[in-house]
Amino acid sequence: MSRKLVAYFSASGVTSELAKVLAEVANADLYEIKPEAPYTKADLDWQNSRSRSSIEMKDPSSRPAVADKNANIAEYDVVFVGFPIWWYVAPTIINTFLESYDFSGKAIVPFATSGSSGFGKTMEKLQPSVSGTAVWKEGKLLNGKPSKDTLANWVESLSL
Ligand SMILES: Cc1cc2nc3c(=O)[nH]c(=O)nc-3n(C[C@H](O)[C@H](O)[C@H](O)COP(=O)(O)O)c2cc1C
Repeated sequence: MSRKLVAYFSASGVTSELAKVLAEVANADLYEIKPEAPYTKADLDWQNSRSRSSIEMKDPSSRPAVADKNANIAEYDVVFVGFPIWWYVAPTIINTFLESYDFSGKAIVPFATSGSSGFGKTMEKLQPSVSGTAVWKEGKLLNGKPSKDTLANWVESLSL
């Protein structure tokens, strides 16, 4: 059986709730990708072009610092990576996370929550942050609190 990790970043709790259920259903460990400087409500104001999230997301080279690098990726075969969609893609802290570890030989399974946007160009923005031979699974939008059955069927369909 493959060893699985659900790693997630969540700024307002939606992805966090989903990640916990997914970890239970997939029989995976759970790891929260925490920013070194937590995002405040003001930081998350997408209507303010000068908010922290707006500034970071306008700069594709931004790499917000993570609070720790303790995910022990080496112990796992499969890493689910969850995040909210920000400005149609993954928050750049996900690039920081991916660039912090060696994913060689691992399967990476991105999943996200959003207001309504799909994955768009999310995958092409993330893939350059992983060097080596990782196998990327198609990203999955999991909005609307999917049931355990729905999540289990999805995990099953991935043939991990
Ligand atoms: C800075 C920022 C940008 C966002 N951009 C988008 C977007 O482009 N499309 C969308 O559908 N939702 C967008 N959202 C909404 C979040 O994706 C959505 O609320 C998500 O479920 C939040 O997850 P979280 O609670 O785990 O942080 C954005 C939210 C924030 C804070």
